[in-house]
Amino acid sequence: MRISVIGCGYLGAVHAAAMAELGHDVVGVDVDERKIDALRAGSAPFFEPGLPELLSSGVSSGRLTFTTDFADVAGSTVHFVAVGTPQRPGELAADLSYVEAAIDSLLPHLSAGDLVVGKSTVPVGTAARLAERVRTVGAELAWNPEFLREGFAVKDTLEPDRLVYGIPAGDTGERARALLDEVYASILARDTPLVVTDYATAELVKVSANAFLATKISFINAMAEIAEATGADVTTLADAIGFDARIGRRFLNAGVGFGGGCLPKDIRAFTARAEELGKGEAVAFLKEVDKINLRRRDRVVELVTASLSDDTAGRKVAVLGLAFKPESDDIRDSPALDVATRLGKLGIRVVATDPEAIDNARRVNPALEYVATADEALQDAEVVLIVTEWREYRDLDPERTGTLVSGRTIIDARNVLDPAAWRAAGWTYRGLGRP
Ligand code: UDX
Repeated sequence: MRISVIGCGYLGAVHAAAMAELGHDVVGVDVDERKIDALRAGSAPFFEPGLPELLSSGVSSGRLTFTTDFADVAGSTVHFVAVGTPQRPGELAADLSYVEAAIDSLLPHLSAGDLVVGKSTVPVGTAARLAERVRTVGAELAWNPEFLREGFAVKDTLEPDRLVYGIPAGDTGERARALLDEVYASILARDTPLVVTDYATAELVKVSANAFLATKISFINAMAEIAEATGADVTTLADAIGFDARIGRRFLNAGVGFGGGCLPKDIRAFTARAEELGKGEAVAFLKEVDKINLRRRDRVVELVTASLSDDTAGRKVAVLGLAFKPESDDIRDSPALDVATRLGKLGIRVVATDPEAIDNARRVNPALEYVATADEALQDAEVVLIVTEWREYRDLDPERTGTLVSGRTIIDARNVLDPAAWRAAGWTYRGLGRP
């Protein structure tokens, strides 16, 4: 099948490469020439494990091409819209201007019978509105949300937990379904669960999944606050409640909280949309989820300053991690970069490192001191802060690390170290919600 993918960011670039891997002829479109040049050369414009291999095999097979010219979508039957829907500055709501612009640019090149497929995360009600515009040229619209996690994006796209199609009722809906079935034939052949529903449900599946995940993380982080007041250990608590299959242990890791390009802005956009619908009360708890999440960053800043006691100016703190999570170079709403920035503003000498995210972090905050390796960051540091749990930081050896630093204090803002091992090596260990 001939497919176009509009928007070649984290979502679109992975989707385009994955569709080519499934055997389709794919053209990826983006307005950013720099991104398109990189993709054309078969290289990924951001860090995502497995993506470079997929891109280079797609590009060299000729099945995967990239362009900045929307006219090149002509000839494709299915057009995926995978542009970003970031938070509007100063507001909770999502900025839909990229989605609107993608549809505007696509419309003149659509043919009757084409299918436009929304993948972006949008406020409920968007698809119904866009469908009317798409139908003016005889095309149809489906909403097919994406659940990929950065760091596992290739696997999540090629082997998703489920597929969700939001389609209209009637014959055009049936045709949309048939086209999507053809796109995903090899995935469906593996008995991947398929949910076929209306637009509103499909849009809500995505935002409610992210709202649930954010709530789960903030729940355990709220328990961490209680643990801190009582001497309990939130990690043991999470293990114990996680054995209950109804609760489950995944996404119960207490720490500095969630960040990234999805969870924070999606819960805020959901709140804004619910308020527009006159149903703000139904999701008012999401404001609390957001607050709990942000309080954890305050707590980490507090732990660092308390460890340095009164005079913090010029004291060296090693910050290990800048990305919002490991296996990603994404610093959007990153708790790690936020904490590092706040420590820097307090006059502390922050020396930060990350295996992949330094360039992105430097663009946002050029004032911090960045070094390429953990060893350089650790050298003569008085306090060590692990704030993104990359494997190499989890595997740090307390003895060896102790020979580099000038003070043996470690703050484990992701609760990934073994406190006993670090304390045995003479370290003051502080986790979040741990005694
Ligand atoms: C998320 C959803 O998981 C994905 O399904 C959706 O499509 C997009 O948003 P992603 O943003 O890539 O994916 O990251 P995810 O792995 O969900 O982690 C989000 C944040 O939560 C990270 O900052 C992570 O460190 C944090 N987190 C996760 C916790 O603090 N504790 C946990 O137990 C799990």
